[in-house]
Amino acid sequence: MQAHRIKKLFSAVARHYDFLNSLLSLRLDGTWRRETVKVSDVNATSSVLDVCTGTGELALAYADKIGTGGTVIGSDFCFEMLEVAQKKVHRKKHQHAFMPVEADTLALPFPDNTFDIVSVGFGIRNVSDLELGIREMTRVANKEGRIAILEFTQPVNPIFRGLYYFYFTKILPFIGNRISRNEDDAYGYLPRSVMQFPSCDELKTIMEQCGLTDVQYYRKTFGIIAIHVGIKA
Ligand SMILES: C[S@@+](CC[C@H](N)C(=O)[O-])C[C@H]1O[C@@H](n2cnc3c(N)ncnc32)[C@H](O)[C@@H]1O
Repeated sequence: MQAHRIKKLFSAVARHYDFLNSLLSLRLDGTWRRETVKVSDVNATSSVLDVCTGTGELALAYADKIGTGGTVIGSDFCFEMLEVAQKKVHRKKHQHAFMPVEADTLALPFPDNTFDIVSVGFGIRNVSDLELGIREMTRVANKEGRIAILEFTQPVNPIFRGLYYFYFTKILPFIGNRISRNEDDAYGYLPRSVMQFPSCDELKTIMEQCGLTDVQYYRKTFGIIAIHVGIKA
């Protein structure tokens, strides 16, 4: 989808985004973000950039882990999503480490080799040029820094996949569009974009082509999401 339509879509659902994430994932979204932090090799002084940060939940999961010694910047090009993130800066513990910034993932306003960890949660699928997005994330990471990508994927088990797709393509869009009062089918876009997204192995190959080594991925919750982590060569 084109960037201006993505921006419009997220600005329309920003107010309900966190509530719906939690409801529609049966509160698993927080666990998935914490797992992402865990496999990122974060420490007390890490500098983290979380791109496509939206309402800042993954950035805050890093900030909770890092405490006062490090920094976490959350960047996004949707002002309305960042407004929600900004309100959390004063609410969450360890908020001192977290700073929301308006920026396009395809042209990050940071010098090369700046961050120990560059992450993205449920965002890279929405970036209009996947490879350029990963290249930008890699560019701003330090040498031997980590790139972590948390994203929906397609479950492998055919029986589970059938049941899950019924929920994901029928029930989730119905509830999501109703509660957010969205007329542009924002929650129908979610399953469509996941089905068009590269498989775990394809994403691993793309990450390697973008200059990352030792790329590993971890499937979670019957394979509905995967966390990919690679190291900048
Ligand atoms: C599904 S939300 C994910 C939010 C958050 N990372 C999370 O874990 O819930 C996707 C976000 O990606 C952002 N986004 C998409 N394309 C972008 C781009 N090119 N530059 C910056 N942000 C982008 C959208 O504005 C939106 O806030």
